[in-house]
Amino acid sequence: MEVKRAARETKVPLKVIEASDRFFSALWEVIDPEDKRKKIGELFIRIFEEEAKKDQVSFLIQGTIAPDWIESGGGGRDKIKSHHNVGGLPEKMGLKLCEPLREIYKHEVRAVARELGLPPGISERQPFPGPALAVRVVGEVTPEKVEIVQEACAIVEEELENAAKQKKMELPWQYFAALLPSKTVGVRGDERAYQYTVIVRAVRSLDGMTANFSDIPYEILQKISTRITNEIRSVGRVTYDITNKPPGTIEME
Ligand code: XMP
Repeated sequence: MEVKRAARETKVPLKVIEASDRFFSALWEVIDPEDKRKKIGELFIRIFEEEAKKDQVSFLIQGTIAPDWIESGGGGRDKIKSHHNVGGLPEKMGLKLCEPLREIYKHEVRAVARELGLPPGISERQPFPGPALAVRVVGEVTPEKVEIVQEACAIVEEELENAAKQKKMELPWQYFAALLPSKTVGVRGDERAYQYTVIVRAVRSLDGMTANFSDIPYEILQKISTRITNEIRSVGRVTYDITNKPPGTIEME
């Protein structure tokens, strides 16, 4: 929805392809994070190719930035993760690549966006990973798990943005929720429950290459936890990730 609004505001023609079933089928029983990223990267390209043929398009313009190829093992570095738009690209593709932002970092991308006069909703928008919520569902991706993460992310965003507006804290550089694959035991009313665990993640960073977890006041964490377990009935436990990058990365996979 946010992307649709941004396209309207900036008068960029947008064509939305509903391909979620194809992504879920490709990811069925896939657990390894690198396999997931490669399957997502490949399917993105195949869908772009199909659509490009219909509209006689020959270029794919991507928003690849420096950390994407650096973390994907560029320049002789170790591969941390195959970013879908770099290491996840298939070897052969029927589109020519154009990556105007390839050599710059996130804070520089924001400066370019401001210079171009894009609305703050776009220039200051928090990063969102190309493989989307698939990297926030640890292990196998299913429609049910993606729905849980969508709802949990919406709660984290709403609560932290409200808290920042009320000057209770600084808005983190990136903030979201992720889902663990294993369930834990709890109680609902008087009954035993066996439910999912959600991890809340919020970090301060400049360029995404390193990051520190954000200091979120306890009252806000408590509200997030209560809302997630009340509003998402299949979640029984909420944890806050207090790992910096390194040694963690910002996303779970
Ligand atoms: P990590 O998890 O590597 O993430 O610390 C650093 C930043 O990159 C985003 N991210 C991605 N962006 N394609 C992208 O376009 C990807 O495959 C990808 N993986 C992670 C992540 O959200 C964070 O802002």
